[in-house]
Amino acid sequence: MNIILLGPPGAGKGTQAARLVAARGMVQLSTGDMLRAAVKAGTPVGLQAKAVMDAGALVSDEIVSALIGEALDRMAPDQGAIFDGYPRTVAQAETLESILAGRGRTLDHVIELDVDEDALVDRITGRFTCASCGAGYHDRYKQPAVAGVCDSCGGTEFKRRPDDNAETVRTRMAEYRAKTAPILPHYEARGLVSRVDGMAEMDEVTAAIGAILDR
Ligand code: AP5
Repeated sequence: MNIILLGPPGAGKGTQAARLVAARGMVQLSTGDMLRAAVKAGTPVGLQAKAVMDAGALVSDEIVSALIGEALDRMAPDQGAIFDGYPRTVAQAETLESILAGRGRTLDHVIELDVDEDALVDRITGRFTCASCGAGYHDRYKQPAVAGVCDSCGGTEFKRRPDDNAETVRTRMAEYRAKTAPILPHYEARGLVSRVDGMAEMDEVTAAIGAILDR
């Protein structure tokens, strides 16, 4: 099964993708994570992407589609893919069609996380992750059980994303409305889109997505 998780910044795509990986053995393909890894490693792609990401704009379609193709090629043919943060433009949606077809895969679901944009700024500006294992936390919604110590690995260093400030988040949301939302009709016409209330509790969102995948 291959699915797309679609929604604006902070909608919960990464949170829900991680849960699907744990529960169903699917593989999360997050272009944001791939680009951040490239920036950290100082690769040519990373050097090109850094300023664009810091400004909240979109990296070129060619770069991200190449990353997705390479990631799919590293997967076993029977492993399902969760596309998280990709596609983000009509051009990327069209490229994904040929990427999947070329690998004998089909798209089964597009799950749109429906959210209130004003609440998202709070979600994003409050989030932080463990520097060692990447476990996610939030200033208000999910603190480590012991202050300053990661629940998952015991790490004591945490980090925040440079693009998680209120001004950049607004730009990222504008990019979503202008460039990403227009891909929905493309999938609606094929009956692939299911909407989930992304403002519900995390567990409720997980259950709603699970019900769609089990249908
Ligand atoms: P990317 O990393 O994809 O960021 P994004 O789409 O802005 O999404 P986020 O990771 O910010 O949010 P999310 O929906 O995963 O939410 P999360 O689960 O973390 O992209 C970053 C940049 O890379 C882009 O701006 C662009 O420059 C570039 N890029 C990436 N892909 C690209 C592409 N395809 N084309 C071009 N450029 C690309 O949740 C957020 C917070 O909310 C967390 O703290 C979480 O704990 C909390 N939370 C989640 N769900 C709930 C809930 N139900 N209730 C309460 N809190 C919740």
